[in-house]
Amino acid sequence: MEGYGIDPAPSTHPLKIFDVARKQDKFIYACAPMVRYSKLAFRQTVHKYGTDICWTPMILAKEFNRSSFARDSDLTISTQGVQPCTIVQFGANSPLELSRAASLAAPFVNGVDLNCGCPQSWACAEQLGAALMNQRELVRDMVVETRRRLHGDGWHVAKDKDKDSAQGRSVSVKIRVHDDLRKTMDFLDTVIGHPQDRQVDWITIHPRTRSTPSTTPIRTEALEILTTKYSKILPVLLSGDIFDLSTLPFGPFASPVDQGLATLTIKDEPNGDSSHANDSTAAVPKPSNTNLSGFMSARGLLANPALFAGQSSCSWDVVETFMCNVARCPLPLKLAVHHIQEMCGPSLGNDKSSLLSKKDRIKLTELTNMIELIGFLDDKYDEYTGRTGGLRRDL
Ligand SMILES: Cc1cc2nc3c(=O)[nH]c(=O)nc-3n(C[C@H](O)[C@H](O)[C@H](O)COP(=O)(O)O)c2cc1C
Repeated sequence: MEGYGIDPAPSTHPLKIFDVARKQDKFIYACAPMVRYSKLAFRQTVHKYGTDICWTPMILAKEFNRSSFARDSDLTISTQGVQPCTIVQFGANSPLELSRAASLAAPFVNGVDLNCGCPQSWACAEQLGAALMNQRELVRDMVVETRRRLHGDGWHVAKDKDKDSAQGRSVSVKIRVHDDLRKTMDFLDTVIGHPQDRQVDWITIHPRTRSTPSTTPIRTEALEILTTKYSKILPVLLSGDIFDLSTLPFGPFASPVDQGLATLTIKDEPNGDSSHANDSTAAVPKPSNTNLSGFMSARGLLANPALFAGQSSCSWDVVETFMCNVARCPLPLKLAVHHIQEMCGPSLGNDKSSLLSKKDRIKLTELTNMIELIGFLDDKYDEYTGRTGGLRRDL
């Protein structure tokens, strides 16, 4: 399989990908950590369609450390074929647990990320996820100890200095924001540490608070303030509301509905070039026009894994790619069906076309095994195209 994106060698340091993208004035495209969903078959699929870096679902460090069964079922990697640049995300609240889990995972992934954003009550009750946004010293201690342990294991963790090393590994955090943005800045100042010798390689900001529902648009004004300050120190990824590359949730590039909310600063085009009227990705600003290094998508990619290839909705070849990946890197039937339902429904962007009707998407839940699912998709593809032979005949 060949990707559309920046295709790293298996052991590429993620910061190398950031560096290549920056030099080409391109954004990094990332698949968000998604509990249940961002498993290997899905990560391989989005990677083929332009996603540069893929997060695993959040894995609880404590279980990962204690059970080889948890390790085998939670972290699946590809031993043959394509292994996208992979960041394992842990849920943890102790330096010892996070650093141990990082040490166990490091041979199989390109970096380790700490979840400081999960708002679910069970997670917060355990002092995991978004609860950590009120524990800045603890988060600092976790990333420092993880970096120390990885260094002790022989991995190269000197950030940009090690970006060309095959042994290079990253340590990052994914955060939400506070209502009072000064608290988010205190958090970041503590966790990042000295700007010349930062403790994390990059940050991902999901500009919603712990209690903001995902139906409320992201806080672009908070993003603006944070990126203005922190993009000078380290790369910043935006997670939230990336549904279509031609209608980003900020700047003059926002869809008409969102324009009232759009405040992220877009600097002037360096060469005044704005002449790509027919290019579907032409409305995308360049990193040098913003304070962002890239975009991470969760719900947008679930519905349209080819989002970062510039497609406005999912197409049959993407469904085929996903099913082939599922055959090689199996998923439980119910999960595969759920993915297909998402991909065959309308995208979250402006393009509301869908591969299957609502009735057919409901019918998917009645299927009892993978063979039935493949047969069903073959029949629907023939109906859709008015030909015979199923998906594989054309692909
Ligand atoms: C099904 C699902 C599972 C998620 N699981 C995680 C997770 O494991 N770790 C995490 O940091 N965020 C998780 N998130 C949050 C997303 O990574 C992302 O920050 C959020 O959905 C906003 O992005 P979006 O607008 O692209 O969906 C999850 C979101 C969804 C929809």
